[in-house]
Amino acid sequence: MKFTVTTREGEARDVEARDGLSLMQNIRNSGIEELHAICGGSLSCATCHVYVERVPAGVALPEKSRDERDLLEASDFLEDNSRLSCQLTCRPELDGLRVTIAPED
Ligand code: FES
Repeated sequence: MKFTVTTREGEARDVEARDGLSLMQNIRNSGIEELHAICGGSLSCATCHVYVERVPAGVALPEKSRDERDLLEASDFLEDNSRLSCQLTCRPELDGLRVTIAPED
């Protein structure tokens, strides 16, 4: 799948993702380091916070777990479309996904 990520500076980049890896891993693998993801995807830091701007038609993202919700609620930058990118797995159906990296807490 391919997705578009907008950096904090407002630069939109298209990324060819590896399916089966998390969105966080794919963003970092593309060389975007401002998404710190300091806990490495173990759901304990919230430094992988993104805003999901567009989901392909007919596709639903998995519900947030309680831990994901709790971590996001601790962010000053929580929005309705906030997600932790380590909790979203890239798969072919998500081709065309658009996300923006949230400001740093
Ligand atoms: S990388 Fe730490 S919660 Fe996602």
